Parts: sequence; structure tokens; C-alpha cells
Amino acid sequence: MAHEDLRIPDEYAQTLVDPVAYADGRVFRTYDWLRANQPLGRAEVAGVDPFWVVTRHADILEISRQNDLFLNGDKSPTLVSQEADARIREMMGGSPHLLRTLIHMDAPDHPKYRALTQAWFMPQNLRSLEGRIREIARASVEKMAATGGRCDFVREVALHYPLHVVMEILGVPEADEPRMLTLTQELFGAADPELGRAARGEDESIPAAAGAEGRRMDLGVITDFFNYFNALSADRRATPRQDLASVIANAQIDGRPISELEAMSYYIIVATAGHDTTSSSTAGAFWALAERPGELAKLKADPSLISGLVDESIRWTTPVKTFMRTVAADTEIGGRAMSKGDWLMLCYASGNRDESVFPDPHEFRVDRSPNKHLAFGYGAHLCLGQHLAKMEMRILWEELIPRLKSLELDGTPAMSQAVFVNGPKTLPVRFELA
Ligand code: HEM
Repeated sequence: MAHEDLRIPDEYAQTLVDPVAYADGRVFRTYDWLRANQPLGRAEVAGVDPFWVVTRHADILEISRQNDLFLNGDKSPTLVSQEADARIREMMGGSPHLLRTLIHMDAPDHPKYRALTQAWFMPQNLRSLEGRIREIARASVEKMAATGGRCDFVREVALHYPLHVVMEILGVPEADEPRMLTLTQELFGAADPELGRAARGEDESIPAAAGAEGRRMDLGVITDFFNYFNALSADRRATPRQDLASVIANAQIDGRPISELEAMSYYIIVATAGHDTTSSSTAGAFWALAERPGELAKLKADPSLISGLVDESIRWTTPVKTFMRTVAADTEIGGRAMSKGDWLMLCYASGNRDESVFPDPHEFRVDRSPNKHLAFGYGAHLCLGQHLAKMEMRILWEELIPRLKSLELDGTPAMSQAVFVNGPKTLPVRFELA
């Protein structure tokens, strides 16, 4: 089939690069249409290199598990405009990446760098943290109780709880948590008029996707992260402690210390991916429950459903909306001939609403089983923090749900505007806690 026949209608292609469509839910209607009519179509949008749009669950799995054929490192693993790409390559001596995190690497480097911290994130190590995480969860519920029955759940609970947990693991002092939160929101929410630096007229950003009003890439935020973690790293090289920062600061690969760019990138991915996504899934669950008293009643009657709530909230919110891959050699997927160098967008939130895998995919059900969602990705890059994220959410719900006597919305919730990572940014609720 000629590329022209595979081109998705402009209106839908435009939606995929428009951060506002991810906040107002329009992107879900686009996904529904694409899965039914053009599950592997090509998006052509002015100012952005053309890309394949992968919307079906089976195709996302098929691509994600073939890490030699679909690469993370050859081109940007997140959607960027041609202008941003050119600027980055100019600044980085030809590399398409500002950072070199696990997400930006392929084999043979990727498994070596992943192995540096993998043990920290495995269930066996996490079990030793359970008691401390429960203390933090209890304090969060007490904070919520102290509001007297009305609060913005995002600001009071969902943002701070996972932030506090991951910063303790990393070794960032509590006094610096507000700074880490602001920097993360500025990074992921760069396009959001309330979260990004552009809103305050302070940004040094470049438009990241042309045709997408306001989608920006903020260089100042990355510089601030670098400066912060440089100091932390120097401290932990001088005086190592029992924290993840010390592991990264003193990491060696093939007998040599890792480079400064790679160390800084490691800190940044843990300090950003490690809380924002978990906050979004937590808030997404509470929002869904506030609108569905029947689901809350099921949980209260049978607390063993909490693990189902955790999975369903991650499927429902799918905080990481997209990652990109680049084709390493001419190949065929789903009857489409793809060429070396082609760029693909994996639409996880679409795969997670695929009706061939999830009955009534647009329904939120705490007892959905099986729930084979793709929100943590798949293959070699499968989320390193998935066990931590799930454990944090389980513990919070174990502390909160038994005490929750009533819950309803108390205003209009809103989602953040972003093509890459998004979730609820405000959730006003009214509740009674025992
Ligand atoms: C990778 C989602 C929580 C650290 C990823 C990927 C996704 C994802 C989609 C890419 C997977 C792929 O390309 O196949 C999520 C979601 C979370 C969450 C939805 C919460 C609900 C966390 C936490 C941490 C974390 C708590 C760490 C503290 C990472 C890291 C990677 C990653 C380091 C890169 C792994 C690699 O490339 O090898 N995550 N994540 N994530 N995540 Fe998470």
C-alpha cells in the first residue's frame, strides 16, 4: 500500500500532537477511530517528521518486545518537532538527545546501565521499605483528614506521597522536595499554561512540536536539575550513604566510572518518572471512585479488591501516553512495510482501551480480571519502578479506603496538557473519614 493510502486524516494527526487533546479527552476518540480504521497509519503534521501511529494492544506489544528492531536511541524517544530536534543535535554534537537515560539507550549499553539499580527496584528489596512507606501513607491520610473533609486531592495527597517515597529512596533531603516537584511539573507540564515556565514568562524553551500550540521543551529546567544533582553527586562520591544517589554517584561500568551526563540523566529519570506517574494514577483512581460510588462500595465490602483497583487505575489513567521508537532495518508489522529510520509512536493509552483485550474498555472496574494493561510498557525497557509504584498505591489504599465513609466531587477536576506524560492536575473532593 502506498504511504498516501496509509495517511491518517489531518484532524486526527493534529490531535495526536496537541497537548490540549490529552487534557480534554479528545485523544481517546481519535484512538477509538484509529484502532477501528487505521491501527497502523502514518501521521503527517507540519514541522514534525512523519511517524507511524501504533494504537492496537497487540501491535504495541509486538513492537516493544523487539528491542533490536525498534530502537530507543537512534532518534528522540519522545515526540519532538524538527526545530527542536535540529537545536538539540546542534547543542549535543549531533546526538538527538539532551539526556542519556535508560530510555535513550539500546543494547549493549542499556542492560549494563539498567543493572546498576535494578536490585533496588525488585520486590525483595522493596519489602524492606514497606514499613516506612506505610508510615508515609498514614501521614498523608492524616493530612487529608486535617483538611476537615474538603480538599484538592492532587495537591494535598497525590503529589506529595510518591514524591516523598522516591526522594527518600534517592536520598534527596525533605527540604528540597518542593523544588523537585516544581522542576518535574515544569518538565512534564512544559506545555501546560499553569504548570510550565512559559506561563510565568521565564522559559528558555523551544517549540517541541510544530502545529501543537505551546508544546515546548524547556532547557532551563534540565539545567536546574543538572546543577542540583551535580552537587548531590559530589557529596555522595565524597561520603557514600545507603541511598540510591550513592549508587549512581559511584557507579562503574566495565571498570570505569559512568560519565557525568549519564549520572545526571540517571538522577533525573528517577527523580521525575519516580513520582509524577504514580501521583497521576493515584489521583486518577480517586477521581474515578468519586464518580462511581458502586465501585467504592465493592472495595469497602471486599478489601482484597485493592490490587485490582491499583491495576485498573494505572490502565485507566495510563500516565505515560506515548513513547517513540525508530526502525533499525526494513521490516513488516501488521501488513505494513516499514523502512529503516522510520519513527513510530506507541500509544499506550490506546492499547489500554483496546476492545479486543478489555471488555467495555471505557468503563472503570475495580474487579477487572485479567487486566493485561500496557501502562508500564513492555520488553527490555519495561518500567523499572513498576513494583514500587504498585506497592505505594496498594499501601495508600489499604490505609485510606477502610476509613473512607463517603466521597464525592466538589468542583471540576482537570487534567494536565501534555503529549508525553499527563494526569489529573486538580481534583476537588468532599469526603468523610472515620
Ligand atoms: C520506564 C510507566 C512509575 C522509573 C517506564 C516506561 C513506562 C513507564 C511506560 C517505558 C517502558 C517501555 O519503553 O517499554 C510508568 C508508570 C508508573 C511508573 C505508569 C506509575 C504508575 C515509575 C517509578 C519509577 C520509574 C515509581 C522509579 C522510581 C522508570 C525507569 C524507566 C521507566 C527508570 C526506564 C526503564 C528502561 O528504559 O529500562 N515507566 N512508570 N517508573 N520507569 Fe516507569
